[in-house]
Amino acid sequence: HKASVVLDPAFAVAPVDRRLFGSFVEHMGRCVYGGIYDPGHPSADEHGLRTDVIDLVRELGVSVVRYPGGNFVSSYRWEDGIGPVADRPRRLNLAWRCLETNEFGLGEFMTWARLAVVEPMMTVNLGTRGVAEACDMIEYCNHPGGTALSDLRRKHGSADPYDIKLWCLGNEMDGPWQVGQKTAAEYGRIAAETGKAMRIVDPSIELVAAGSSNSQMPTFGDWEATLLEHAYDQVDYLSLHHYFDPANQDRDSFLASGTVMDRFIDDVVSTCDHIGAKRRSRKKIKLSFDEWNVWYQSRFTEPGDREWIESPPLIEDDYDATDAVVVGDLLITLLRHADRVSIANQAQLVNVIAPIRTAPDGPAWRQSIFHPFALTSRLARGTVLRTETAGPRHETPRHGEVPTLSTTATHDAATGQTVLFAVNRAEHPVELAVDARALSGVRLAEHLTIAEDDPTAINTPADPDRVGPRRLPPSVMDNGRCLVRLPALSWNALRLS
Ligand code: AHR
Repeated sequence: HKASVVLDPAFAVAPVDRRLFGSFVEHMGRCVYGGIYDPGHPSADEHGLRTDVIDLVRELGVSVVRYPGGNFVSSYRWEDGIGPVADRPRRLNLAWRCLETNEFGLGEFMTWARLAVVEPMMTVNLGTRGVAEACDMIEYCNHPGGTALSDLRRKHGSADPYDIKLWCLGNEMDGPWQVGQKTAAEYGRIAAETGKAMRIVDPSIELVAAGSSNSQMPTFGDWEATLLEHAYDQVDYLSLHHYFDPANQDRDSFLASGTVMDRFIDDVVSTCDHIGAKRRSRKKIKLSFDEWNVWYQSRFTEPGDREWIESPPLIEDDYDATDAVVVGDLLITLLRHADRVSIANQAQLVNVIAPIRTAPDGPAWRQSIFHPFALTSRLARGTVLRTETAGPRHETPRHGEVPTLSTTATHDAATGQTVLFAVNRAEHPVELAVDARALSGVRLAEHLTIAEDDPTAINTPADPDRVGPRRLPPSVMDNGRCLVRLPALSWNALRLS
């Protein structure tokens, strides 16, 4: 079980875009109500925001947060969530079949984003609504003043425009579950026209078109191609969504989830470039992987015809040590594609398939998957390097033969620090020979690993640090080379400086 990897700053992929460390807050389950917002909780500030959650969001190193959906946005009226809270309407949340009080809305989200130090990424409703409402929303948010809607924002307490740069044109519009589902041509037209009009209000914005809900959708490929035939010139990014389910497959296949994400990205890049070539366009569409995570989706039952109640808990998955390794591998995969993937949002941030969980009257805690995210966000700086890894491969029932190791590296010319990220997908340790001769004079300063003897171990409020990173004694470099032992089923970060 031996492998080797060469690190050389000459092999640059692209700069590390901080927006790869994004997350997602939807009005779903207890993500907003009882998650980031809970006025009755002892840690809540004067805005009703849980400060213990804000502290964890900052520790997680989240850069950009997509809001307010998700499926929720497709029947949402943004103006329900502005102005005096007492005047806000109670509505049906059609996506998740529950009641929406609108106590939390746009202004509250912008206050939270400022305190959590994250960039907002706003989604507009292209399910039940269209061009006019999207224009109204961006005028309210980004126009300085002197019009009815911008003055309304000022009246609501924000003299300065919110200046929101990133806008998603609808969500999963190909999905039969989506309120206002569209054909690719219908969606391509409304996305193009909405984007065009929004840019008249604010030419500085960046626009994300909604790609397929996942690579298994029957229209995958055609959806992207058709919508881009209509909207290529208007949009900057195309979105990808994919969830990886540990419960509907064997462990080896699940551990190879990174190879599925890898191929999905390649396929979407090809489709974008195919349309670009047909149009003889010099523009390249970038990718926004704005929903990704491990999700025990096969255990999820649709809300069905239950009572209409406020914020029922939904998909509060417990994540184990294996899930943390897979999340680390998915981040490695995203970094490897940094030349085309510029935005990525783990879904979601709190309680709903989330790295952070909260107890209603108790603490907030870090799930296992919190750790690879926080460490990658902290350590991946500078430029992504192409790592050539030679090593074992193994068979998986779903995906055939896959590489046993998944690697990437980043190099920060400013600090001289290089970090090698490596996942070992096998149930045995692998000896990795690291060749860093191109990085003169470096030593292996730190070896962090996430690997548990019990791969099903989870964190709970009673034992919140059961799964987390550990330091292994760093191997000694000899003339720019060293041998590192990667534990079985492990995520690793090797810091060279
Ligand atoms: O993140 C949960 C849901 O998954 C989102 O609302 C939707 O966009 C996706 O199907």
